[in-house]
Amino acid sequence: MRQILVTSALPYANGHIHIGHLVEYLQTDIWVRFQKMQGNRCIYICADDTHGTAIMLSAQKKGVTEEEFIADMSDSHQRDFAGFGIEFDNFGSTNSKENKICCELVWKALRKKDMVVEEEIEQLFDVEKGIFLADRFIQGTCPTCKTPEQAGDGCVSCGATYSPEELLNPVSVMSGTTPELRKAVHLFVDVEKEHAFLNEWTQSGALPKESANYLKNFFLNEPLKKWDISRPAPYFGFEIPDAPGNYWFVWFDAPIGYIASTQQWCDKNGESLEDWWESEKTEIHHFIGKDIQYFHTLFWPAMLKTAGLKLPDKVHIHGFLTVDGKKMSKRDGTFINASKYLEHLDPSYLRYYYATKLSARLDDLDLNREEFAARINSDLVGKMVNLASRTAKFIADVGLSDTYPEDGGLFKEFAERGGDIAEAYEGANFAKATRMIMELADKANPFVESNAPWELRKDEDKAQQLQDVCTVALNLFRQLAIYLAPVLPELAEKCGELFGEKILTWDQAATPLVGRKINKFKHMMQRVDPKKIEAMVDESAAECAAAAAADEKPAPAGDWNDSGDTLAEDPIGDEISFDDFMNVDLRVARVIEANEVPEARKLIQLKLSLGGDETRQVFAGIKSAYEPGDLVGKLVVMVANLAPRTMKFGVSEGMIIASGPGGKDVFLLSPDDGAVPGQRVK
Ligand code: 2FM
Ligand code: ZN
Repeated sequence: MRQILVTSALPYANGHIHIGHLVEYLQTDIWVRFQKMQGNRCIYICADDTHGTAIMLSAQKKGVTEEEFIADMSDSHQRDFAGFGIEFDNFGSTNSKENKICCELVWKALRKKDMVVEEEIEQLFDVEKGIFLADRFIQGTCPTCKTPEQAGDGCVSCGATYSPEELLNPVSVMSGTTPELRKAVHLFVDVEKEHAFLNEWTQSGALPKESANYLKNFFLNEPLKKWDISRPAPYFGFEIPDAPGNYWFVWFDAPIGYIASTQQWCDKNGESLEDWWESEKTEIHHFIGKDIQYFHTLFWPAMLKTAGLKLPDKVHIHGFLTVDGKKMSKRDGTFINASKYLEHLDPSYLRYYYATKLSARLDDLDLNREEFAARINSDLVGKMVNLASRTAKFIADVGLSDTYPEDGGLFKEFAERGGDIAEAYEGANFAKATRMIMELADKANPFVESNAPWELRKDEDKAQQLQDVCTVALNLFRQLAIYLAPVLPELAEKCGELFGEKILTWDQAATPLVGRKINKFKHMMQRVDPKKIEAMVDESAAECAAAAAADEKPAPAGDWNDSGDTLAEDPIGDEISFDDFMNVDLRVARVIEANEVPEARKLIQLKLSLGGDETRQVFAGIKSAYEPGDLVGKLVVMVANLAPRTMKFGVSEGMIIASGPGGKDVFLLSPDDGAVPGQRVK
């Protein structure tokens, strides 16, 4: 029995899980379920990646603490994963006490081996926000092609890469101000010290060939750059114990989170961490996307080696998801959140569809909407479920034949294919595994068609033959369900219920079930309704557009272009004392009635409420700018202690505040949401 520790990349806690993320988590979950069915000891470890500036800012924007922010996101991530049947043995957080301890241990080891060096660097600093700016928080004009509004590390227009200091007219995305270059001392890990080891390890077979070659040609043929792993405060993360005021960069503590989450699992299960991270008997498998290879294949093994920990046996690397041949797009509605998918479609569809596309290669994977529906309908509904739905009902009373009937060698052939299918799963070549399974389904269906149980049932003399045909069909169905169980656990469960025996291990496919009753056939899977796909995409597009509108930032300072004429025409008045100001009692009031005053061209008669029974009548000269009907319900600001004035139409008991020269250009001042009538304005 193998002992296998498996991880997926830790999802960043700054956003929700979408169908692009799911490629990896489904790939890993399928692989882990396969290993468990083989009887191996296998644990699937993950956690939320919770540190860094982006999360700090998101929490601020939402008005919550970082801890609250990441707790909510963790709930959301775990709900989404569970919805897709992704089963972790432990899902932790990098912001855990276990992770802090693990980071300190790795850090100590790095220090001990003299792998940490200090260097002064220059970085752009947002003076208004008091923060050093990561590349993605800076925009400016590309120094090469002069395209404006390019990110701090590269230009999407001409493809140039540069450092943010080279941008022309750099602007901080956070405040809209011009950042300035400031010096700061950072801590670096001198990865070059492990160059010889990395040369060897990256070529040892732990990585896909393409990745090993890429690293050899692009990184390892020259000295490795030192890795900047500290960030000055303010930063949401762990403070470095021997460098107060500095925090570990999120990418330092993220992979260590794999170990910390394993520690949590060990604590819950009475196991010891050494058995999993220090023992050669454990196989470690990481599943990651091709965008984060650098971290997992250079820094991470160097850190593990320095800390005397077990090195990964395999880093499985996948490509990106495209939808209908294009990058996922918020505007097209193809940027689909996991929760949105689950509102409309069965998660089994996506599990199976991705499986049919996944191999051990780094190629991108395309979700073609038409093909998606066709594939599910033809393979799962047409070929798989049909085997059972067309036969189970005929033997509901009599059950399975007492001995396994003659089937022309089908069951035996299916059982023998088990080894090849398992080999494909083992190599994470699920496309091949599902293809082989469907080839078997293509053999099972003609058996049912040629024996036509629906005809046999019409003839009482053929009852035995009917029972035998259905016994064969259902056993073949069960074999296929076992082979597909890593991909379709829910279908396997329903199959188990039908036969009254759970599907748990791969070798269950080697022995037919006979001489027993079966349970009532329950509906197993519905055809894909293309309208539901459409609705999902439309809603995603609408929700992304709404979120973008709500997120729209005000134009940065300097772009407002307000004229100085207004103030020039109406200069600021003589100075008053604070007490003078406080003598004016300004109050929030609600307009509860608004009527035209027929005899007065400019006036509207308002009844204002100050809360409770307190009301005031005010005549306001705003008729050219406002319709009385539009004012009712509105909160305004009134001068509440102005001496009453008797006018031709009645007494005015105050004044409401507005700006503008008059006529159509009168603008009432109203308080922000949350203010209530009666509140003093000061
Ligand atoms: O790329 C990402 O989304 C990172 N959050 C992955 C971290 S993987 C590991 F190193 F923790
Ligand atoms: Zn450019």
